[in-house]
Amino acid sequence: MTLEQLAQYERDGFLVLPDFVSAEACDRLRARAKEMVREFEPHNISIFSTHEQTRTSDDYFLGSGDKIRFFFEENAFRPDGSLKQDKERSINKIGHALHDLDPVFDEFSHTPELKQLAADLGLPNPLLIQSMYIFKQPRIGGEVSCHQDATFLYTEPLRMFGLWFALEDANFENGCLWAIPAGHRLGLKSRFVRADKGGTRFEVFDETPWPEDKLVPLEVRKGTLIILHGLLPHLSRENRSPRSRHAYTLHFIDASVDYPASNWLQRSAEMPARGFQK
Ligand code: FE2
Repeated sequence: MTLEQLAQYERDGFLVLPDFVSAEACDRLRARAKEMVREFEPHNISIFSTHEQTRTSDDYFLGSGDKIRFFFEENAFRPDGSLKQDKERSINKIGHALHDLDPVFDEFSHTPELKQLAADLGLPNPLLIQSMYIFKQPRIGGEVSCHQDATFLYTEPLRMFGLWFALEDANFENGCLWAIPAGHRLGLKSRFVRADKGGTRFEVFDETPWPEDKLVPLEVRKGTLIILHGLLPHLSRENRSPRSRHAYTLHFIDASVDYPASNWLQRSAEMPARGFQK
């Protein structure tokens, strides 16, 4: 990254890098995700929604930190519980260890370019803590309300950032990202933690609402990488358009930080978060 790009990232809390990955690399991930969904046999249905996030924190979700698991769109079902459309058009996302468990995602996630990017952003020993494949399905793609990623992946000190790869063009119509420029200076508002009696809860530090009038849309082309500071407030709106908006996200922490046991996302001792070494 250039000094100018770094300064921009420090100022805004995000940075948009067009053409960071090739169209072919995007298509490889898309094809692999399609295959995975086709092979997925839903034995139990787990929904991802930011509307009632603590209620939907079932064991399937809580145990997904070091697995590949599938979460449905909230609006995918009829009142009787059956799917309104085929399985392929009903999945909200796949998470949260694609980068470790699937060779195609592993290859995409562990490139020298990404290692260098982490070093530029002040993470000399980066660990990949989470990956998600997000479908933002046509017509039923749910909104993701305004949040900071550090709410979900808290570290002490706070040394974490997210990467958001556009695997398709993302725009106003199909539910692109929106961010509050410089909003990363507003402080951490909450943490999403494991509750003592099971499930999850939000630990709230600051009740003031986000200044959502300051949100700007990040309309980007396929192949663009958006870097998100861990404290940057961002959201995406519903997708009511006939087109999907696939994206792949990766979250990095530094090996030097403390990753609390209270964070919702945990990995088993047999499969700790790994960096770029094989
Ligand atoms: Fe996020």
